[in-house]
Amino acid sequence: METTRIHIFDTTLRDGEQVPGCKLNTEQKIEIALALEKLGVDIIEAGFPISSPGDFQSVEAICKAVKSPAVCGLSRAVEKDIEVAAQALKYAARPRIHTGIGTSDSHIRYKFNSTREEILERAVKAVKLAKSFVEDVEFYAEDAGRTDNEFLARVIEAVLKAGATVLNIPDTTGYCLPEEYGAKIRYLHENVPGIHKAILATHCHNDLGLATANSIAGVQNGARQIECTINGIGERAGNCSLEEVVMILRQHPYLNKDTGINTQLLYATSQLVSDRMGVVVQPNKAIVGANAFAHSSGIHQDGVIKERETYEIINPLDVGVDHSKIVLTARSGRAAIAYRAKHLGVNLSKDELDHVYQRFLEVADRKKEVEDNDLLEIVESIEIKNPSAV
Ligand code: KIV
Ligand code: ZN
Repeated sequence: METTRIHIFDTTLRDGEQVPGCKLNTEQKIEIALALEKLGVDIIEAGFPISSPGDFQSVEAICKAVKSPAVCGLSRAVEKDIEVAAQALKYAARPRIHTGIGTSDSHIRYKFNSTREEILERAVKAVKLAKSFVEDVEFYAEDAGRTDNEFLARVIEAVLKAGATVLNIPDTTGYCLPEEYGAKIRYLHENVPGIHKAILATHCHNDLGLATANSIAGVQNGARQIECTINGIGERAGNCSLEEVVMILRQHPYLNKDTGINTQLLYATSQLVSDRMGVVVQPNKAIVGANAFAHSSGIHQDGVIKERETYEIINPLDVGVDHSKIVLTARSGRAAIAYRAKHLGVNLSKDELDHVYQRFLEVADRKKEVEDNDLLEIVESIEIKNPSAV
């Protein structure tokens, strides 16, 4: 079976930067855009040019700075937005305008005080206008997750005819279940004539912790672009996390989906975004969290010391983390102590290990984590016959 290339659309600098307190200056945005280019993303959503002069400038500067990824600017289905987005993108080697409108009944009624027919008309008009500036036009049906499938299919068919090259189906509120979201993508595949001429995209938010699962369900049902952010940052509970979807597709090769991401740069890119945005990565975050490759219980440590694969499904080197961590806590066993002592140059005999272990437990019950210097102190306090490095 042929492998499908999944396009990675990174929106760290647009949806990610919408997080309160995450505002970046142009210089920092360029730095992150260049890191995303190195990482191998296919599209960088650089900003929302009409939103502020600063954002306009940043989009323009990113267009000048990056070479290989397409650079995308967001707009509403509003004439001025689209014109300004086109202006901001004029230096891009591969410009893309991302325009769209809310299609759920809730958005139509409360946000627009409008009707389905009017919304459909506005969507088509926006795509046609964007198309007059650039060839690559992506349309988003905001709140598609809660949009009636039949109406969504009508909108998608109409914007496809108007020239949209990418069709974004956002689960804006993170409401869908994976099966439901996958079925929505499949429904569009099966019911929109000519859909194969465009790329269907997932854009999933994480309000119920399902953004990654929904994005994967989307690609399993025919989507060929995933919209995501580094560290999963974004509005409210965030967006689908880039590092998670990329590693899921890599670790499950039988899905036959490939990305162009250089996974060994994932950890460094995560650290860069966390640092520049001032948002700490939660320690238990999959792939890039401080504990993603840390083992603290005796049973797990014993397994990992014997063979890493017993408790790790990813080689840390594959994501740019140089080694797994054996953390010494009151739950650790003799195997972990002997292992850590050996790394410090101390080979413990069975008897010595028994002694060190008893002393270690006293210390470990007082401290959250026993550090290397604590272990060395314990070793020094006990008569070791052949302490090569003590
Ligand atoms: O979540 C969303 O619907 C969006 C669109 C603007 C693409 O971010
Ligand atoms: Zn979004």
